[in-house]
Amino acid sequence: MATLKEKRTCGQRCEDFGRFVWNSDNGTLMGRTPEKWVYISLYYAAFYVVMTALFSLAIWTLMYTLDPYAPDYQDRLKSPGVMVWPDTYGEEVVEISYNTSDKASWMKMKNILDKFLEPYNDTKQLECNTYNCTKGKYFIQNTFSAPHHTKWACPFTQSMLGACSGFEDPNFGYNCTMPCVIIKMNRIIEFLPSNHTDLPPYVNCTVLEGQDNVAKIEYFPDRGIMDLSYFPYYGKLAQPTYVNPLVAVRFSLVGEKHAKIQCRVVSDKISYENFHDPYEGKVIFYLKAVK
Ligand SMILES: *[C@@H]1O[C@H](CO)[C@@H](O)[C@H](O)[C@H]1NC(C)=O
Ligand SMILES: *[C@@H]1O[C@H](CO)[C@@H](O)[C@H](O)[C@H]1NC(C)=O
Ligand SMILES: *[C@@H]1O[C@H](CO)[C@@H](O)[C@H](O)[C@H]1NC(C)=O
Ligand SMILES: *[C@@H]1O[C@H](CO)[C@@H](O)[C@H](O)[C@H]1NC(C)=O
Ligand SMILES: *[C@@H]1O[C@H](CO)[C@@H](O)[C@H](O)[C@H]1NC(C)=O
Ligand SMILES: *[C@@H]1O[C@H](CO)[C@@H](O)[C@H](O)[C@H]1NC(C)=O
Repeated sequence: MATLKEKRTCGQRCEDFGRFVWNSDNGTLMGRTPEKWVYISLYYAAFYVVMTALFSLAIWTLMYTLDPYAPDYQDRLKSPGVMVWPDTYGEEVVEISYNTSDKASWMKMKNILDKFLEPYNDTKQLECNTYNCTKGKYFIQNTFSAPHHTKWACPFTQSMLGACSGFEDPNFGYNCTMPCVIIKMNRIIEFLPSNHTDLPPYVNCTVLEGQDNVAKIEYFPDRGIMDLSYFPYYGKLAQPTYVNPLVAVRFSLVGEKHAKIQCRVVSDKISYENFHDPYEGKVIFYLKAVK
């Protein structure tokens, strides 16, 4: 059987290709006349202009219907989670364990709290949150009256944490057996924790294991209250200077000096019995001081 195509040399192939690019016999460029190329280019130019216009229109319509200050899809999060600092994890759970006679061990806890409290620095807070908030009621803002078209946020300063502020005791009680922990509740946009304005949310810590090892539990600010003026939160864009209110809790450890603690944020709109989310409304941690 003879091959259908005779074997051709490389030189011939190059020549073929050259003729394809520019064929002087019938005046075609890549198989089409220049005139046709102009029509094709025009067609594609028009095509892309129309596509771009449609795309822009779609994006514009989307942006137009979005509220720039609130995410459209918030997680189906209805009740906030609660966290504790120092956030040192043992196996899975938070385990705040330190050695009072080992400086490196308790300095680690102190450093975590110092770092965590940086945004709460009194000077910083009073500089960026200058609004004189009315305590004890929600700070509802329907307008953007703060500078740069934003909403006001109430200052929360480190010194509000009293004995756990790091001012009276820069070691937060970790060089002895009176450690302070800090409780923070996650933000949920436009969440109102309580519908009774005379009942602000407060932190309540209970000892789950080792009751005999905890002599005293103290709360700062007083009674562990998260003032209502920190709610609602309007989102990062609307309230760029917002900081979460905090509650510090000081435990006086005695005896064997270890305990399992649960701290709950108590309020009528905050649930804490979600089987799927153990951090909803509460946080459980181990506290252990050794010598
Ligand atoms: C605590 O630290 C001291 C000093 O470093 C050390 O002697 C002691 O064994 C440590 N205690 C425990 C329980 O690890
Ligand atoms: C707060 O910030 C000021 C200025 O940045 C600084 O001088 C001061 O030491 C800080 N205070 C604390 C307690 O960190
Ligand atoms: C804030 O408001 C309270 C009550 O209206 C007032 O007593 C206080 O002096 C005000 N503080 C400042 C810094 O304006
Ligand atoms: C812990 O540190 C504080 C502040 O530096 C100090 O007043 C206190 O005496 C220290 N306690 C112990 C047991 O070392
Ligand atoms: C507060 O909220 C709860 C549940 O959301 C509701 O049952 C109750 O009637 C509300 N109370 C007031 C005073 O609005
Ligand atoms: C804190 O919680 C415990 C256990 O649930 C309860 O007995 C106690 O009354 C609560 N304290 C406050 C102030 O709500």
